[in-house]
Amino acid sequence: MAQFKCPKCEKDIETWGVVTVCPDCGADLRDLVEESQRIVIERAGAIARDESATTHEFIVRTRGLTKLYKMGEVEVPALRGVDIDIRRGEYLSIMGPSGSGKSTLFNMVGGLDKPSAGSCFIDEVDLAQLTAFELAWLRCRKLGYIFQTFNLIPVMTALENVTLPMIFAGMSTDDMLDRGKMLLELVGLGDRLHHKPFELSGGQQQRVAVARSLANSPSIILADEPTGNLDLGTGKEIISLLKELNVGSGVTVISATHDLKMIDVSDRIVHIRDGQVERIEKRSEIDLQVGSFGDM
Ligand SMILES: Nc1ncnc2c1ncn2[C@@H]1O[C@H](COP(=O)(O)OP(=O)(O)O)[C@@H](O)[C@H]1O
Ligand SMILES: [Mg+2]
Repeated sequence: MAQFKCPKCEKDIETWGVVTVCPDCGADLRDLVEESQRIVIERAGAIARDESATTHEFIVRTRGLTKLYKMGEVEVPALRGVDIDIRRGEYLSIMGPSGSGKSTLFNMVGGLDKPSAGSCFIDEVDLAQLTAFELAWLRCRKLGYIFQTFNLIPVMTALENVTLPMIFAGMSTDDMLDRGKMLLELVGLGDRLHHKPFELSGGQQQRVAVARSLANSPSIILADEPTGNLDLGTGKEIISLLKELNVGSGVTVISATHDLKMIDVSDRIVHIRDGQVERIEKRSEIDLQVGSFGDM
């Protein structure tokens, strides 16, 4: 967003590029809008291109993350001081009963909501320090989201759903279509490009959502109970797809879940209860009774 003072009457102006004349004195602001947008885009680009970012050991860190929801007079504590360090390339599951704060944590890490207190760092950038524009940029370029209810746009085809985030990233139409097709092929839906969500099964819809999450080559995929609405077999397919992406491309996967099948592919499991980290387990330390992943 462009922010500056009108050179004629000194009014403070904030605009996404829509306002081009001063609403108070009518001065022509086009050059100023263009210039301040260029500066914002340059700054946001520098964050995304920050080469040193790839050298940080922890791709995500939270410190004292706290969230209170206000319901009228009542305050509901959803997170009560969460400290987590997540390594680059890790497959991390966040487990806990319903209402323990998994989605809230997920929303804070994904920059979808703001904490009441504490901080969340992505590549050592404190999300609270970013402007709305920079946060939108980071979410578009660095993060991919997958939700329990798929959240596809019903009137759009699979291909349109997958290419939508690429529009926001400013990709050309040809590149977008090529990449969209490639991603849908990757998730096994090369023959469903023009199907709308209601013409696809739940598992297929979630695979479209996985393809969409990869639209802009994110370094982190955030998945909130991605198998919650799927049957056993389809759930396993989505889990192995996420694991393949994690191993194959080094993308960090952070998944909120209470699906035990997810434990088997996780490098670490963070157990949360009542908005606090109860314990953190390493995959190597767990003796699983569910069998190896290939047998599931
Ligand atoms: N938007 C909201 N407004 C008020 N309370 C909320 C809101 N979202 C979640 N909560 C409350 O915060 C707690 C944690 O919720 P949530 O993060 O959704 O848990 P989980 O994803 O583990 O089921 C719950 O007590 C829930 O009722
Ligand atoms: Mg939830």
